[in-house]
Amino acid sequence: FSPYFHFVDNELYCEKTPVKKIAKEFGTPVYIYSKNAILEKIREYKEAFKEYPTLICYAAKANSNLSILKIFQEEGLGLDIVSGGELYRGLKAEFDPKKIVYAGVGKTDKELIDAIDTGILSFNVESLMELDVLDELSEKVGKKADISIRVNPDVNPKTHPYISTGLRKSKFGIDMEDALEAYKIASRKKNLNIVGIHCHIGSQIMDVSPYEEAVEKLVQLVFKLKREGIELRHIDIGGGLGIRYRPEDNPPHPKELAEIVIPYIKETGLKLLIEPGRSLVGEAGILVSQVLFLKDKGDKHFIIIDSGMNDLLRPAMYQAYHHILSVEKKKEKVIADIVGPICETGDFFALDREIDNLNRGDYLAVMSAGAYGFSMSSNYNTRPRAAEVLVDGENFYLIRNRESYQYIIQPEINEKIQGEVK
Ligand code: LLP
Repeated sequence: FSPYFHFVDNELYCEKTPVKKIAKEFGTPVYIYSKNAILEKIREYKEAFKEYPTLICYAAKANSNLSILKIFQEEGLGLDIVSGGELYRGLKAEFDPKKIVYAGVGKTDKELIDAIDTGILSFNVESLMELDVLDELSEKVGKKADISIRVNPDVNPKTHPYISTGLRKSKFGIDMEDALEAYKIASRKKNLNIVGIHCHIGSQIMDVSPYEEAVEKLVQLVFKLKREGIELRHIDIGGGLGIRYRPEDNPPHPKELAEIVIPYIKETGLKLLIEPGRSLVGEAGILVSQVLFLKDKGDKHFIIIDSGMNDLLRPAMYQAYHHILSVEKKKEKVIADIVGPICETGDFFALDREIDNLNRGDYLAVMSAGAYGFSMSSNYNTRPRAAEVLVDGENFYLIRNRESYQYIIQPEINEKIQGEVK
């Protein structure tokens, strides 16, 4: 796992800080992120792509905490957003609007208007209707919008079906065969500037060959467009590199991605954009929980913890595997289901897992939870969302308060509410 989480005398540390110290100070559940693990990933990506003009646009959806966004902003990265909310966060974190790209099949008028007003690097347009609407709204705002067409290269990224986005049957993008026509339509719109081409084939990709397939198709299209007199500035190949969830996983290094795509992009001379999310933050974060109860039922042993599927949805939603470590190593092991307190059978973190023989009050860490962990969390069962802490060496900072009950119900209690409780 990330060397930024390691054991010292049988105790789990994040960088130079004992995880238990943070859990005691801020309570559990708590997400803990290693700043230096994130910085190292950024360096890996920069190093891998340094031979070719590349803008790395961090995919905000993976983890959109303002302090995390700020790390990427300070490192000079761009931002890949999918909503008005993410645009709002990105601007709060002071990203240069000219480094923001905006994808999504369902952008509202308000979202489009705000982004036109901001003057972002590229709207990654996903339908012909979106082209029409964007053109009309740009006219209204009185500013031209820079656009790319998100094409669907119809390649199989060989990952979980819910996170495969580049297949023809998926809702994303415009099919390859229809893309040329879409560009022609776009080129006739008075208020749109064509600047690029975009694709994103999926997430948690463990083998880079599907990228080659996709980029090859994109580059062919770029040349076709050129012959039609449509010139682009950049090719955006999306995100998707996988990370280590199981100890035996061997995810591709950003270098492998660079080596496979750059030769193709080079032929076009266009600037390259990439949109990694998970691979920048996933292994840099853990979710720490405390054991509430133990119980034996039939021949099953349950470890019931104070985090639930509202805190980390991935196991319930994708049957995703997350490695789980006891924060203090124990000699004895057991086989257990590690489950949350929520009233759903799907509320589990691990089934029939070998784990240290934990007791009430012990802490455990769900590993590789930095991406799509907090950002997918909810208030289901009126559970306040977890606190988030950023570690830098022996220093650590609270970067999000644990929510209070008052905060959760606040939007339901005010003068304008029509019901009984005001
Ligand atoms: N660009 C676009 C247009 C995307 O849709 C995504 C992710 C990314 C970039 C970043 O992909 P990454 O590098 O993080 O793989 N909730 C799921 C993952 C959903 C990914 C959606 N799109 C999970 O927990 O596995």
